[in-house]
Amino acid sequence: RFEKLWFGASLVLIVAFLATIVYGAVGPGVAMVDDSGGTVDPSVIADGNYDQVENFREPGVYDTEDGVDVYVVARQYLFQPGSSEPIEVPAGEPVTFHVTSPDVTHGFNLAGTNVNSMVIPGQIAEFTVTFEETGEHGIVCHEYCGSGHHTMEGQVVVV
Ligand code: CUA
Repeated sequence: RFEKLWFGASLVLIVAFLATIVYGAVGPGVAMVDDSGGTVDPSVIADGNYDQVENFREPGVYDTEDGVDVYVVARQYLFQPGSSEPIEVPAGEPVTFHVTSPDVTHGFNLAGTNVNSMVIPGQIAEFTVTFEETGEHGIVCHEYCGSGHHTMEGQVVVV
C-alpha cells in the first residue's frame, strides 16, 4: 500500500514540475507581450518621468546643449534603436542614454565601456558616457528576458 502512495505522490510532483516548466516557458511570453505597436505605453513609465514619454514614442538621438540624449526602448528581443539600425553618437561629447522597457527586465551592456545597467519595466535607466574615440560598441542584453534573449543585441557607432 505504501508503494502505491509513494507512486501517487511522485506522479503529483512530476506533474507539478512539468506545469512549472511550461508556465515558465509560455507564461511570461504570452502575458507580457507588448501590443502598443512599437511605442511605449505611458502607463509603463513611472510617475515623475512623464516629461520623457514623448521622446520614448520616437526613440532615437536628440541634440542637447552640450551633447546628445539617446532614448532607447529595450523590448523582447531588440533595442529600438540599436538593433535594426545602429545608434550614431558623436565622439568627445557627453552622451546620455535613457533606456526603458515596456515588457520585462532587460540588460544594457555596452561593450568596451563601463556601461552596464539593468532596464526595469516602467523605470528609466540613465547613464552618461563620453566616447573619446570613434568606433563601434556592441549592445548586449545581459538579463535573461525570454526565449530570444541570446539574440537581443544592438550597436552604437561613435563618429
Ligand atoms: Cu533582453 Cu535578455
